[in-house]
Amino acid sequence: MLSVAMNRSHPHARLSADQVNLYLVGFMGTGKSTVARILANRLGLEWVDSDVWIENQQNCPISDIFAREGEEAFRRYEQAFMDSGHPPRGCIVSCGGGMVTVPGMTDLMKSKGVVVCLLATSKTIYERTKHNRNRPLLDADDPQSRIEAMLKAREPFYRKAGTQILTDHRALPDVALHVSRIYQREAREFGRK
Ligand code: S3P
Repeated sequence: MLSVAMNRSHPHARLSADQVNLYLVGFMGTGKSTVARILANRLGLEWVDSDVWIENQQNCPISDIFAREGEEAFRRYEQAFMDSGHPPRGCIVSCGGGMVTVPGMTDLMKSKGVVVCLLATSKTIYERTKHNRNRPLLDADDPQSRIEAMLKAREPFYRKAGTQILTDHRALPDVALHVSRIYQREAREFGRK
């Protein structure tokens, strides 16, 4: 077991470092879900995906939620997921790409665990997402320009959302290894906060 420290600012005082939640954030197509799955297996933690939780709760695919209720409603479901939709410890969470744009969300995540942000260029993101039909925000005539515009608008949010890792030209198991080293170090620091 990694080091154990008293944590006064969190309800779960005495949280062992190997139980601290890990939140993977970043734009669509940066590999959050794949990396989270690999790491959950490797570290023996539960893998939770915010999009899957919302789809199960609403009994509806993401694209239908956007079409029927709009993005604002979807962001409220993301808030509900963060507030109470996942275990407070012992899990690796792959977060929907826009979650960090919800006011207060990044601070909330950082109060609950370690946050790591995966980054990629618009070109890589386009290549990784072009065949997927369940990303309504990329359902545009020119998805590559849409990606570029969204990346630009969201850059400030990703920049302040935890340690950044570049994923271009890297196999995702390799990215997972990098994330795991950061997680193990930051989880110990989290316990001491
Ligand atoms: C979104 C990202 C998606 C999903 C929804 C909105 C976004 O998740 O939550 O389509 O705003 O970036 P992934 O990042 O897992 O694709």
